[in-house]
Amino acid sequence: MLIIAHRGARSTHPENTLVAIQAAMDMGAKAIEIDVHEHDGQLWVFHDKWLNRTTDHIGKLSWLSAEKLKQVKVAKTEAIPTLIEVLRQIDGKCALNIELKGINNHDLLYQHLHFALEVCHFQLEQLIVSSFNHDWLKQLKEEQPQWLIGALSASKGIDKSLFAKTLGATSINLDLDIIDEDYVRHAKQLELSVYVYTVNQPEDWQWLNEIGVDGVFCDCPAQAIEYYPQPPHFVWQ
Ligand code: G3P
Ligand code: MG
Repeated sequence: MLIIAHRGARSTHPENTLVAIQAAMDMGAKAIEIDVHEHDGQLWVFHDKWLNRTTDHIGKLSWLSAEKLKQVKVAKTEAIPTLIEVLRQIDGKCALNIELKGINNHDLLYQHLHFALEVCHFQLEQLIVSSFNHDWLKQLKEEQPQWLIGALSASKGIDKSLFAKTLGATSINLDLDIIDEDYVRHAKQLELSVYVYTVNQPEDWQWLNEIGVDGVFCDCPAQAIEYYPQPPHFVWQ
């Protein structure tokens, strides 16, 4: 089972920072998930709309200029990285799931994806773009169909995973609270990979593995990799 380091090695390092990403790679993770907000001409690797929970600032990320955001500290010492910095850091050494939390300018995203291939030694299949906002994924697939997408969902709708297939997704990325064997079977019939978030307990890893889930987003990748040794190289499929 694939262990996807959720926001980097989040249980031991400040989430969505360069140190968390490096730690996840050092722990042997072959895939990492990050969250991205577009603001002031940059893609910022950060989970919340608000800075309050994880940084030394109060207020919305979008209230600060790019210059000011670079001075914000996560967990007292770390900068909020840009997607460019993360791509350079990973440098094609593991697969990356870019979860879109906020985007207006899709062209900026495409520039980053091309930068990943041309400068940072990624293969196309090492990159997947996911989002709960399926309109953004639809636009991406219509404009640049070569990029892989993962359809995020926290609900089991009446068409199960059919919406993900309709979007042209490679995977369906589901909340642990709603996943069941029936959902996995349906997704597999549609040839979708199934990844589940956020799974930090061995009993849950084991159950998900048994019902055919392909991978889990996990805050403690070192622990999970002890149970599930990872292949030397992983691409999204
Ligand atoms: O991509 C899986 C997971 O990260 C989705 O939820 O809120 O942790 O970004 P969240
Ligand atoms: Mg996320």
